Amino acid sequence: MSSNEPFAGVETQIDEVADGIFRLSTPVAAEHFPPMGFTYGQFLLMGDEPLLYHTGPRRMFDCLVTALEKICPIDKLRWLSFGHGESDESGSMLQILEAAPKCEVLVGTMLSRLVVNDAAPRPAVVLGHGETRKIGRHEVMWLDTPHLPHNWEAGMMFETTTKTLMCGDLFTLMGDDHPATTTDDILPASEELRQRLPYYSNPQAARPKLEEMAALKPANLAGMHGPVWQGDGAAMLHRLADALDG
Ligand SMILES: [Fe+2]
Ligand SMILES: [Fe+2]
Repeated sequence: MSSNEPFAGVETQIDEVADGIFRLSTPVAAEHFPPMGFTYGQFLLMGDEPLLYHTGPRRMFDCLVTALEKICPIDKLRWLSFGHGESDESGSMLQILEAAPKCEVLVGTMLSRLVVNDAAPRPAVVLGHGETRKIGRHEVMWLDTPHLPHNWEAGMMFETTTKTLMCGDLFTLMGDDHPATTTDDILPASEELRQRLPYYSNPQAARPKLEEMAALKPANLAGMHGPVWQGDGAAMLHRLADALDG
């Protein structure tokens, strides 16, 4: 096995899914991720202060850089963010910070304390719950979502100008071949997966956080593992809350 299996020779799909927001999605074939394969999605918010959301796993770093540099040289990254500390969300944090000397990690309080400020070579820039920051043409808001879907330090990022909610592992789908965006109903398949792999820490406590996110009226639900869902994001988040209650 080579050192970057299962990502050797894999091509990352690049699509602009909202104005200035690019989805970089790397597939893993079923032979490496049975039974259907899987995808790892990063989001690049382009502009004067480019922000990358999710790092991808450490072994995927070369794939990520190859794709990223078709849009933005890695040393021009200004911000790095992710929703919790886990190999796919933050595994390449150190490689990215090394390759991008001006890049700072922009996350919530608990992520800074529990993950970034111990592991990274420079401290995180912290956004409080609901706090916004202008980054070039985009504006991002941080949302603390402890244990949603997992990890105490969990949070999500909302891009206010495009109403894009980078919702991490919510609405996760199996499969290695998804369209970049969809309006199809992704909830039944993601719920079927959650029943088999119960990856939520505390689904019964999720409703208040999901309702808070629904109040932002997202138009794009940019999950990490699957297509970006486009439509009435508030309605979809309420349906997820109902499903988690069931
Ligand atoms: Fe996760
Ligand atoms: Fe993930």
